[in-house]
Amino acid sequence: MLLDIRNLTISTETANGKVNVLDKVNLQISEGEIHTLVGESGSGKSLIARAIMGFLSNRWHVQADRLWFEDTDLLNLTPKQRREIIGVDIAMIFQDAKSYLDPNLTIGEQLKQAVLNQDLSGSFWQRRKERQQKVVSLLHRVGIKEHDAILNSYSYELSEGAAQKVMIASAIAHRPKLLIADEPTSTMEPATRQQIYRLLAQFHARYGMSILMISQDLGAIMQQTERLTMIYSGQVMENGSAEQLLRAPQHPYTEALLDTSLYRHAKMQPRSHLPTLAGAEPTLQHLPVGCRLGPRCSYARPACVKTPALQKYRGTQYACHFPLRIEEDES
Ligand SMILES: Nc1ncnc2c1ncn2[C@@H]1O[C@H](COP(=O)(O)OP(=O)(O)OP(=O)(O)O)[C@@H](O)[C@H]1O
Ligand code: SF4
Ligand SMILES: [Mg+2]
Repeated sequence: MLLDIRNLTISTETANGKVNVLDKVNLQISEGEIHTLVGESGSGKSLIARAIMGFLSNRWHVQADRLWFEDTDLLNLTPKQRREIIGVDIAMIFQDAKSYLDPNLTIGEQLKQAVLNQDLSGSFWQRRKERQQKVVSLLHRVGIKEHDAILNSYSYELSEGAAQKVMIASAIAHRPKLLIADEPTSTMEPATRQQIYRLLAQFHARYGMSILMISQDLGAIMQQTERLTMIYSGQVMENGSAEQLLRAPQHPYTEALLDTSLYRHAKMQPRSHLPTLAGAEPTLQHLPVGCRLGPRCSYARPACVKTPALQKYRGTQYACHFPLRIEEDES
């Protein structure tokens, strides 16, 4: 297992006392796997990513039975292990890319630092030229054609979309074992998004890079996604093979997101309105007792005030007292 997260709970103090923003989250990613974490805004996707990278401030209290990358415990890294792993073996493309680029260096200088020495050969001058060529080629690969203007810019001069592309270029230059991509294409046009997905798929195929992709919409996930984890209000609702979850979800939340996503509406006219999931994610101050989907779930019954445990079913896991298709699948 490349990444193994068991019972990750992240809590913080609110006006109403301490709350578990993430509640016993499990997430496992094998070597070479493309895994997509899907959930609406505020469900805790970025918190999980930042917990893996160790980028959470003191206001968050992190606990887990296991938070391991290969054979290293990410909750107890020595400074040496941290330098070796974070940003190198595990790279992340942040949602707010601009604030994670160094404002004191030009984009060209930052990208040159990202090119690995082992990818260069020859004399000092040859390596210098090769480094420059690799930086330009990286920018072309993420869809930036006007490379001179970008290379001489500082991060604050870039649009959010251009900054995200630069972060992607920098992350893939490192050839990490695990790339965490937090909604990397949310500010991009669909055509550019597909181009970025193809590029990440190429890196996955060529270098065996695992990818944890984060998305709000089941209709906009990478085609190559092998496994999905559905998260709602800090609780894992369902996980398993993408094929199985998209074809026959057991969980009402997966079903609802499928209904509201472009995935089931590929043939709709561009201007048609999608149905939406009624209601909104609960606030931290008003988290429901038991299954947090309860107030928005049309299948909810009194038993749902008890938190459902994850149940295994044919290579998938779901957390629901009343799964949608068990009987029909068993018959
Ligand atoms: N800096 C912060 N201060 C206060 N609350 C926060 C902060 N960051 C996250 N939260 C809260 O933690 C919860 C999870 O947030 P998180 O950013 O992980 O959601 P998300 O799934 O990434 O959403 P989005 O898709 O909008 O990025 C939300 O309730 C959010 O309001
Ligand atoms: S446990 Fe109850 S509230 Fe939660 S998803 Fe299942 S049926 Fe709905
Ligand atoms: Mg987020």
